[in-house]
Formats: sequence, structure tokens, C-alpha cells
Amino acid sequence: MSLISLLLNAALSGVGSWICYRLILSYIPIFIQRKMYGNDQCKVSNDPVPEPMGVICAAVYLIVMFLFIPVPFFEWIGADIIFPYARLLAILSGLISISTAILLGFADDMLDLRWRHKLLFPTLSSLPLLMVYYVSGNSTTVIVPSVLRTFLSSAGFPFVVPVTVNIFYLYYVFMGMVIVFCTNAINILAGINGLESGQSVVIAFSIIVFNIVQLVRVDAQYWHHLVSLYFLIPFASITLVLYHFNKYPAKVFVGDTFCYWAGMTLAVVSILGHFSKTLMLFLIPQTFNFLYSIPQLFHFVPCPRHRLPKFDAESDKLFMSTAVFKKSELKSLGKISLTVFRLAGLLYQREFEKDGETWLEINNLTIINLVLKFCGPMKESRLTLTLLGLQVLGSFFAFFVRFYLASVFYES
Ligand code: UD1
Ligand code: MG
Repeated sequence: MSLISLLLNAALSGVGSWICYRLILSYIPIFIQRKMYGNDQCKVSNDPVPEPMGVICAAVYLIVMFLFIPVPFFEWIGADIIFPYARLLAILSGLISISTAILLGFADDMLDLRWRHKLLFPTLSSLPLLMVYYVSGNSTTVIVPSVLRTFLSSAGFPFVVPVTVNIFYLYYVFMGMVIVFCTNAINILAGINGLESGQSVVIAFSIIVFNIVQLVRVDAQYWHHLVSLYFLIPFASITLVLYHFNKYPAKVFVGDTFCYWAGMTLAVVSILGHFSKTLMLFLIPQTFNFLYSIPQLFHFVPCPRHRLPKFDAESDKLFMSTAVFKKSELKSLGKISLTVFRLAGLLYQREFEKDGETWLEINNLTIINLVLKFCGPMKESRLTLTLLGLQVLGSFFAFFVRFYLASVFYES
């Protein structure tokens, strides 16, 4: 029965993707007419590029998901067996969180929201999902790595270290943080053609593979991996269509609507699928980009409105973009973080004198600029492919850690 549900899900996703393709084509002129567009900052021409096209894709995705809702429950409808309400609730709560993320993204596209709102709103919209997780009696237990247990016992730890520990509310705090992180992670690794949609496609397909492997290998978590696939297959196929239009040279921009929708969908599938820790392995580039961005995100270091690379029309290449500010403007946390990055070789910094004051020029703190720092200026299409290549490498690493290292560390 679950195989039939999966096949129907894939069929609906295929139809949804085709509809999405047609809709994007027909909405491109409408977006321009309604003045919903952005300007490609890495091109010579200043032609308007329709934005946010993610809203069309998200709408098709929701329709596909709504149509699919009854499918996994066919065998219970009209039968004299107890209906699995918890499963239906899980799907509905996931859809609530995804819908609110789409709303937040669209509001951001229209209004350019403040950072505190971008953090507060996803925190609140995670509550339906976490509440359902709680009432469904889902586990908040973590396994203690065997190496840690062995180490503690040999170090004379006075108690027998248990194989598992229930961390109760901390688990909910962690899941809430995963949701807030994911909703913003893709949006801050953005700004060159095809990057937002491309990274989402790579992550989504990697997690689809992970779920299928888990379904085949095991397991007690059968339903959880299945529900994760129900959300991911339509997402991956619709996003692939969006990538087709968003890749270099971009005919559409995805907008914040897409970035928040994508991030929230990944967070939702990991929570419903019970693999939120594994999800973080598939988001290594996003996590690194977030950590590297912290000084600018929290304004320890001045942060310009746009941190995307600088376009040089003559060579048709992208260069690192920089932030320039008076040295005296730097707060102490800013000084510390820049020193750490400089010592680690992760910072371009130039100091110069102007009007009797010392000024600093540093690269904007994103991994996009970091790739340009290490590899030198390059064409936009090549830069996107390099970053997507890193994402693919990250996925291979994630599989290695999850399936090889984890079995070494967690075997009892
Ligand atoms: C986030 C980033 C910002 C980055 C921007 C690019 C942080 C804190 N914010 O801001 O640094 O510059 O995304 O998306 O990291 N654009 C292009 N080419 C593309 C995609 C976007 O030129 O391939 C430009 C267009 O002008 C487009 C604009 O970026 O209109 C979209 O920016 P927006 O999504 O509003 O920026 P933020 O999400 O606020
Ligand atoms: Mg954005």
C-alpha cells in the first residue's frame, strides 16, 4: 500500500511540475507588468527579472500536497479499524508550518522585513509542528556514543553511563532552532543565478536517497521516512523546474518566498522523519556560511544590504565583494571575530588611511566570497557550479558520516 502511495505521490509531483513549468512561462510577463521584478546585479544588461517566482512554485506544491492528503489513508477510509489520527495530524502540522514560511517569505519579498521578525516568526510557526510531535508521543531520546561511554567509564565516572538519555525539552529547543536556522539558511547563501534553487535540489535529492536507503535497510521508523518522502518528492521535482528557469542566465529570481519555503520544508521533513540531527549533516555548507556570517548578521561588523559578489563588466567575471568602514566603528566582538578569521586564513583585509582616519576593507563574510578569495575571480555560471559541487561533496560526506562513522561511534 505504501508503495502505491509513493507512486501516486511521484505521479502527482510529475503533473505538478509540468503545470508549474507552464505557469512560470505564462506568469513571466504578468510579473513584469505588475512591476514584480528584480535587477540582475551580475549582468551588463539591466533587464527586469521576474521575482519572486517561488510563490508560483509554492502554490503548486501546496495544491499537490492537498490533493495527496487522502492517499496514504485509503486503506482506513470506510474500514472498521482505528484511524491513525496522529499520522494525519503530522502531515497537517507540517503543511501549516510550510504555509506560514511561504507567507513570511512573500511578506519579506514585498516589505523587506527586519531581522528580528525573520527570527521570531519561524520560531512561532514551529509550534504547531512541535505540539503535534509532543502529543504523538514521539521520542526525545538521544543515543550516547559508545566511545564517550567507554571514555567516561575508563575515566572513573561514578555512575554506569546509559546507552540512551532522554533530554526532554532540550530536544524541542533543538528542533525549534533547526526550524529557525533552516528557514534562513538558504536565503543567506544566495545572490548568484541558480544557487538558491540548485542547492535546494541537491539537498532534497540527497535526503530522498537517505530516506529510501533507510526504508530498504530497516526499520521501526518506516512511516517516518515515508512521510518525509511524501513531502520531499513534490518539492524536489517542482524545485527542479524552478532551477531550469533560475540557472545562469536567470530568466526568473526565486525570491525570499522560495528560500523560506525550501528551508522550512527541509526542517519539516527532518522532524517528521526523525532525522533532524542527520539533516544538519546535509547542510554543512549552509551551517558554515551561517557561522562565517555571524559577525555581519549580528552587526559586530558592518553589513551592507547586499553581500553578493561584485560584477566586473569588462572581464564578465565576479570578484569578492567587500565592506568598507572606519576601524573605530568596529565593536570588540567584531575585532575578535575578524582576528580569528584572519588567523584561520579566511579573511581578505586591507587597512588604509583616509581623511586622517584608519579605514578597513574586508570581504563580505559569505562562502560565495570565500570561494572567490581562494579560487580567484570567475564567471557567474562557474561560481554557481563550484558551490553546487561543494554541496554535492557535502552530501557524500554526510552519507559517509551517517552510514559509516555513526555505526562505528554508536555500536554498543
Ligand atoms: C540576502 C543576503 C544578501 C544577498 C541577497 C541576494 C544576507 C544577510 N543577505 O538578502 O547579502 O545579496 O540575499 O539574494 O546574507 N540577485 C541577483 N542575482 C541572483 C539572485 C538575486 O542579482 O541570482 C539580486 C537581485 O537584485 C534580487 C535581489 O538580489 O532582486 C534579491 O535580494 P533579496 O532576496 O531581497 O535579499 P535578502 O534576502 O534580503
Ligand atoms: Mg533573499
